[in-house]
Amino acid sequence: MKLTPEEQDMLNGKYGRAVQKSMEILSTLGDIYKAERMIDVYSVQIAGVSYSNLGEAGLDFLSEMADGGTVRVLTTLNPAGMDRDNWQALGIDEEFAKNQNRVLDAFAKMGVIATASCTPYLIGNVPHFGQHISWAESSAVCYSNSVIGARTNREGGPSAIAAALTGKTPEYGYHIDKNRHGQVLFEVEVPVTGTAQYGVLGKAIGDQLDQLGKKIPYITGISSATVEELKSFCASIATYGGTALFHMEDITPEARLYPKPEDKVVINKDIMDKAKAELTDPDIEIDFVSIGCPHASIHEISNLAKLLKGKNVTKEFWVTTGRPTKRLADEAGYTQIIEKAGAKFAADTCCVVAPITGRFKGMMIDSAKACYYVRARHKYKIKIGSIEECVVEATK
Ligand code: F3S
Repeated sequence: MKLTPEEQDMLNGKYGRAVQKSMEILSTLGDIYKAERMIDVYSVQIAGVSYSNLGEAGLDFLSEMADGGTVRVLTTLNPAGMDRDNWQALGIDEEFAKNQNRVLDAFAKMGVIATASCTPYLIGNVPHFGQHISWAESSAVCYSNSVIGARTNREGGPSAIAAALTGKTPEYGYHIDKNRHGQVLFEVEVPVTGTAQYGVLGKAIGDQLDQLGKKIPYITGISSATVEELKSFCASIATYGGTALFHMEDITPEARLYPKPEDKVVINKDIMDKAKAELTDPDIEIDFVSIGCPHASIHEISNLAKLLKGKNVTKEFWVTTGRPTKRLADEAGYTQIIEKAGAKFAADTCCVVAPITGRFKGMMIDSAKACYYVRARHKYKIKIGSIEECVVEATK
């Protein structure tokens, strides 16, 4: 691929080993995907932050990149394995906390803002329509491409770090117009409301895409959707269909730019019921309830505070969110109400990336994405339900 003189200098080591290694990663990717050039990115979101995912090998890579490497663009972080302030109350052991802090220190050394949230678009890392970015975290990639109309491929941990240290990414995939049109039409024939149902819809469409081997759905039949519903949908369709971009008629900004595909799949009540049934295990004994996958918005927290006001939870209950959102909740008085009910805030982390395997038997949550990963990673039984149903279960 063709590099500018500055990019060539990066590759030749003029800016140090970390930048050189970053440009090696990016130019190799560019060659593999036949990119013609590098483009500038507005921001980066890095995933792979929990020490339980990284281990010592990941930490070695980070330390190498942090040795002289400094971010050139706005760069934020995915959730870590623990709440930085409240880890003891969440049952995280000291050894893990020490190692997690080593990871966060390495990112801080590079100048990364330790937002530790999978919803960067809710807390200040907000690209505009058409802007090129380099994000990891499948749910945020899907949201930024589809709902905002920004442009990113689904980056891995190393390629996102490389983009942060150079401000560049190779121009291929979703950065290019011709790769962004819808490939299969999904007509949704049933009304869909609430984060849990949008998660079910994401699984229903994602499962079909998986079978069709196509990745960009064009969805019709949805008359309105909130930010929270779309964030749940994005997380789910990215999990079950590997989707990084969708178009939703009258909802997402690029839907009107592309023709509706001819291949059509109808999503009816039977398909939705089947998808929902697959998100609940039989004979489940629920001892853990969590809200906030992807990380809860201030609107969801305000709703939860109303639902929990004057009640007491009888099971472990986590509210997972980004720390800036938690600060808003503190100021608005929501934190006090929620904690008085016995629920716990787990800022900076979530029920999937926290090291909690073996602690619980069955979990209820409003997120189809969490259902998949909690089952796979912690081997808990799971049940999906709306936030209202989660509160009923938690306060039984
Ligand atoms: Fe975020 Fe964890 Fe869900 S990273 S999308 S809350 S699995």
